Amino acid sequence: MLTVALPKGRIAEETLEIFEEIFGENFRFESRKLVLEMGKFRFLLVRNQDVPTYVAHQAADIGVVGLDVIEEQSLDIVKLLDLGIGRCKVAVGIRDDEELDWSRPQIKVASKMVNIARNYFSEKAMGVEIVKLYGSIELAPIVGLADAIVDIVETGTTMKENGLKVVETIMESSAHLIANKYSFLMKKSEIMDLYSKMGEVVNGA
Ligand code: PRP
Repeated sequence: MLTVALPKGRIAEETLEIFEEIFGENFRFESRKLVLEMGKFRFLLVRNQDVPTYVAHQAADIGVVGLDVIEEQSLDIVKLLDLGIGRCKVAVGIRDDEELDWSRPQIKVASKMVNIARNYFSEKAMGVEIVKLYGSIELAPIVGLADAIVDIVETGTTMKENGLKVVETIMESSAHLIANKYSFLMKKSEIMDLYSKMGEVVNGA
């Protein structure tokens, strides 16, 4: 039995579609249920940012989560396969009537991805004060809570509609299959079997 942590929403749906293609059966959660058992698999529906936690603690053997979340949390997990779904980027945004002034000694940056934000500006040798937010990050520069934001950009619509523009791309992200280190050793053949079947689907083999 393999326990699989999936992030609620579109990525879970698209991952289950990959399973449907592999096994030729319907993989659907009943409404409001957070656990789905199907043959050799048990799926858990969790918050996106919690997927690496379930996997690192071995509450799930494997999981699917964005590279941005993996990078932000740097937990001890094995990264197996790029599923090519949930593509987005992590970018720096500012008000579209401003420019990012790299000569300033310090800027204030709002983000829910505080580690990625801090590392990025540290590498550029720019002093940064991070304001941790949990959502609606795009509001921060509008109301003067921050000079810039570090956030997920998918279509770019949210930034645009709130008078912001992307000035730097920090990283490209997409959903990856990850595994617990011990599960990967103990259940290697099951995990590798799934890995190669998923690989065939996502790489169109
Ligand atoms: C992300 C991000 C932006 C938005 C970008 O939030 O924080 O607000 O999506 O998408 P766009 O470029 O297509 O407009 P998300 O909806 O993932 O929710 P979250 O804040 O709960 O993580």
